[in-house]
Parts: sequence; C-alpha cells; structure tokens
Amino acid sequence: MRVLTGLQPSGKLHLGNYFSAIKKILDYQSKEELFLFIANLHALTTFRSKEELKDYTLGCALDLLALGVDPNKSVFWVQSDVPEVTELTWYLSQSITVSQLQLAHSFKDKVAKGFVPGAGLFTYPILMASDILLFSAEKVPVGKDQKQHLEFARDIAERFNAQFGPVLTLPEPDIDESTATVPGIDGAKMSKSYNNTIDFFGTEKEIKKKVMAIVSDSKAIEEPKDPDTSIIYQIHSLFLSPSERETQKEKYKQGGFGYGDLKKDLLESILTHFAPFRSKREELTQNLDYVHSVLAKGKEKAKEVAQSKLTEVRKTLGIYPF
Ligand code: ADP
Ligand code: TRP
Repeated sequence: MRVLTGLQPSGKLHLGNYFSAIKKILDYQSKEELFLFIANLHALTTFRSKEELKDYTLGCALDLLALGVDPNKSVFWVQSDVPEVTELTWYLSQSITVSQLQLAHSFKDKVAKGFVPGAGLFTYPILMASDILLFSAEKVPVGKDQKQHLEFARDIAERFNAQFGPVLTLPEPDIDESTATVPGIDGAKMSKSYNNTIDFFGTEKEIKKKVMAIVSDSKAIEEPKDPDTSIIYQIHSLFLSPSERETQKEKYKQGGFGYGDLKKDLLESILTHFAPFRSKREELTQNLDYVHSVLAKGKEKAKEVAQSKLTEVRKTLGIYPF
C-alpha cells in the first residue's frame, strides 16, 4: 500500500505534528511504501521571509531524519523539487468549484483571524489534492484539521475520473482519534500559527519555558486535580503507556502535587523521549551534504512516479504534444 503525507515548513515542528503525523509515518515506513515530502510550496501561502522559509525547510529535513525517517525505506523529498505537482494542480482545478473551495474551514479560519488571503491560500486544497493524486497515494495519515482537505482530494479525483477518464486513485484519510487534536499550551489546537506550540527540538530552557506556561486552574497544591480536564495531563498522556497513565492520573486525583510538579513530570518525559533524536539531529547538522544527498535521491524517485502519472493525465485530457 502506498502511504503519503506532507509537512509544511512554516515553523518548527511541534508535539502536535509529532504525535499525529510523524509517529505514524515512522510506523508505516517499516511496513508500507512511504512517500513523505516537505510542503514548501504550501508554506508560501503564509510566507514571511526567504530566510525563514530556507531555515524551516532545512530544519524540517533535519528533524524528520533525526526522528527516524529512513531514506532507504521511504521516498523523502522537497515539494518544489518535483514541479510536476503544480502542472497537475492546474488540471485538477477544473474539477472543483469555487463554491466548494469557499467552504474550506482552514481558509475561513485564517480569514476570520484577519489574515488577508492570496489566491494561493484559496486554491491550497487543490495543490494538496495534487500532492496526493500525483503519487496515487492510497492512505494519507494526517491530523483532524486536514480531514476536509482529504475530502476535497477525494471529490476532485472522483469528478476528474468521471469527467475525463479513470486515471486517479482515491485516497483514504488516516486520522487517529486519540491524537487527532493535540492541545497547545493555551488549550487551543497546538499550531505553528497560534504561537502555542512545544517545539521538541528547542533548547531545554525553551521547552521548560513553554511547559511552565501551560494554562491550568488555580487549585492549591493539596487539592485533588482532574486529569481529564488538565492540558498538562492531555499532553503528558501521549508519552505514557496505559499503566503509566493510570499512575499519573492517580497523582492528579490524590492531591499533594501542585501544577508545577505535574509540569516537571511532563518536562522530564519530553526531554527523555527526545534525547536520542536530539543527538542524532546534532550529528546531521554537522553533515549537511548527506542531508542534501538524501533529498536529491528522494527527488529522483518522486519525479519518476510523478512524470509517469502526469503523462497519463495529459493523455486523458488531450494536452499537446499528443
Ligand atoms: P500547523 O497547524 O502547526 O501549521 P501543519 O499544518 O504543518 O501544522 O501540520 C502537519 C501535520 O500535523 C498535519 O497532519 C496536521 O494535521 C498535524 N497537526 C498539526 N497540529 C496538530 C495538532 N495540534 N494535533 C494533531 N495534529 C496536528
Ligand atoms: N496541508 C497539510 C498541513 O498543513 C500539509 C500537506 C500538504 C499535506 N500536502 C499534503 C498533507 C498532502 C498530506 C498530504 O498539514
């Protein structure tokens, strides 16, 4: 089965990305055919500066390789290295209506927050559909916020196949309910755009600062606390086994521990969990030639698949040269 996903280099990767998308990708890579890319063309829709885009693109590659993406078991590339995706986007844009695009939650949310959208933000779901359909992905692991984008991709594929001929594979979303929405330090969805993330490759000091800033109620140390409504616990539980979860829940319920203590437990889990990946990342930072060679190899493999699908699509549409 072909599994595909993309991550935007629009900021540093955070725990929401890790638990919903990255961990899953790592599981898949040993069992299925994994296609993974850095969605830098998507990141242009919220562009701030070229320095930032370059930093985050390389940072994202370093993060994913450090976390265990294995270039021998997966195809790993940067989206802009396979520009065939933008050509397919144009073809696919005939198979979705403006009124459908107007229903996109992520677009509406950004506009509601005062963001002045370019046309690229509006057509973003078509580029995402193209990412998926160009590589005939069968399964797409994402967080819940991408559910509607996956529905668009399926709709576009269905309509395109009906209009022009059956060339596109319908993808299945793969959304895990338990990690569907990881909360940020303010309790809203953790997101690069909301400034509420915990970036696991930050310095110990930075991570500590974020963890200590997680919002909690004002219960005194001796009072029992409710793990189910605590953001600290919700984040911490992602690191724990079922039995460790029960033990930690008891700690909340019995009282005698302040939120400061419970945050320290969480901090400890984050630092311990990411320690081996952190040293791997440092090694990779010293060996950027290797990182670029991995991406170049990924580009070649991805291009081969992309060109073959694009040839099929062009034929179906009657695009010149015939
Ligand atoms: P962000 O919202 O921080 O910009 P991206 O849009 O780059 O993150 O998301 C990359 C992947 O991580 C997607 O599959 C997305 O659904 C998932 N994701 C992002 N934030 C969260 C979150 N808070 N909880 C669960 N999944 C998330
Ligand atoms: N839109 C996705 C996000 O913000 C990133 C992405 C781009 C993606 N293309 C994709 C995810 C294709 C899965 C498949 O998270």
